[in-house]
Amino acid sequence: MSMIVRRLARAATAGLVAAAALTAAAHSAEAADTLGSAAAGQGRYFGTAVAASHLGEADYTATLDREFSSVTPENEMKWDATEPGRGTFTFTSADRIVDHARSEGMDVRGHTLVWHSQLPSWVGSLGASDLRTAMNNHINGLMGHYKGEIHSWDVVNEAFQDGGSGARRSSPFQDKLGDGFIEEAFRTARAADPAAKLCYNDYNTDGVNAKSNAVYNMVKDFKSRGVPIDCVGFQSHFNGNSPVPSDYRQNLQRFADLGVDVQITELDIEGSGSAQAADYTKVVGACLAVSRCTGMTVWGVTDTYSWRSSGTPLLFDGNYNEKPAYDAVLAALGGAGGPGEPGDPGDGAVSCTATYTRTADWSSGYNGQVTITAGGEPISSWTATVTLPAQQTVSSLWNGTPTRSGDVMTVRPSWNGTLAAGASTSFGFTVAKNGSDAAPTVGACTAS
Ligand code: XIL
Repeated sequence: MSMIVRRLARAATAGLVAAAALTAAAHSAEAADTLGSAAAGQGRYFGTAVAASHLGEADYTATLDREFSSVTPENEMKWDATEPGRGTFTFTSADRIVDHARSEGMDVRGHTLVWHSQLPSWVGSLGASDLRTAMNNHINGLMGHYKGEIHSWDVVNEAFQDGGSGARRSSPFQDKLGDGFIEEAFRTARAADPAAKLCYNDYNTDGVNAKSNAVYNMVKDFKSRGVPIDCVGFQSHFNGNSPVPSDYRQNLQRFADLGVDVQITELDIEGSGSAQAADYTKVVGACLAVSRCTGMTVWGVTDTYSWRSSGTPLLFDGNYNEKPAYDAVLAALGGAGGPGEPGDPGDGAVSCTATYTRTADWSSGYNGQVTITAGGEPISSWTATVTLPAQQTVSSLWNGTPTRSGDVMTVRPSWNGTLAAGASTSFGFTVAKNGSDAAPTVGACTAS
């Protein structure tokens, strides 16, 4: 279904059947001012990982529904969540996500069927014969329940070791069933839902290296022997230790040349500002340069709920403001807008975030630091609030101008109000504990 059709279906589902609403929905799809619609213009999906527990939060769900065309349950389809006891399947949380996605016209990626992690202990205690039966039963249980509703399944996740050996990772499946477990899982999966694309998914396979070579050789072997496999997922969790590889596109292309689709399945890039934005641009550019790269998924909606939240690796900050990385992705997808251009929903809206850390600690006091980071537009001033536990008093504060009212200290800049888009400054303060070691609460940052 095209994005426009999906958006119309979405508007209709929401009861917005008036012609004006349908026109508006079609118009916004044409303007390609969201990640999903811009990616659709390139023939790709743009997805995010979703946690069922946040679907009741208005900002979270509004951002999800507006921007993304595919969802991956972050944890809810894993073995520990779906079959905690042998033969006892629970789909409540995963169903919430799938139902939500369907009602919004979004596609769903299935993650994941056979993985060494988030695996209940009963699986590891089975002998080989029972384990084989249990593995196939698990695949059939999950894929049967969601038959026809999942565009791509991560059938096997992370079966290869890190490091230079290219060897298989030790797991109950590998250790008891041997190399053939992957092939068996894919054959079972094909029969369970013939319409779903079947993917092998892994990390540290984004560039050409020993691990990606091992996966490459497996896929090549599967293709030559007719073992059913349709796609390879590249998790793409990047940070300073694991940067976006310079041969990313080349690596995606060599897999595509084996006759499989490639998908970027769990993208997140630690960092901020223009450096982070530039890395996102590289990733999107690599996918768009490979015709069989069918879509991208970021591993969460907002930095706050990221599994690596301290690295602020996603496209929306804790207040659901679009970060420079968002603008970069939208621009790379050929979307309307980009920084400072008309048509970008966040255009011209100044914003900032405030994050707190305790930088020193002693028995009677501590030093706190609040880092202020501008959003996707430059700012000329900011205001942050710090609420202190009742007993505590501030003995000094630097790089900021405080005013205090009761327990709430409002801090404005001293010399450091002007920030470029994505740039940061910080203020610090020394607190006398007076018997309370509790942390202060830092409120939302406002910018002008
Ligand atoms: C992570 C989730 O994001 C966390 O919430 C959970 O605690 C651990 O798993 N590779 C994968 C994903 O395939 O399933 C992982 O997701 C991240 C690494």
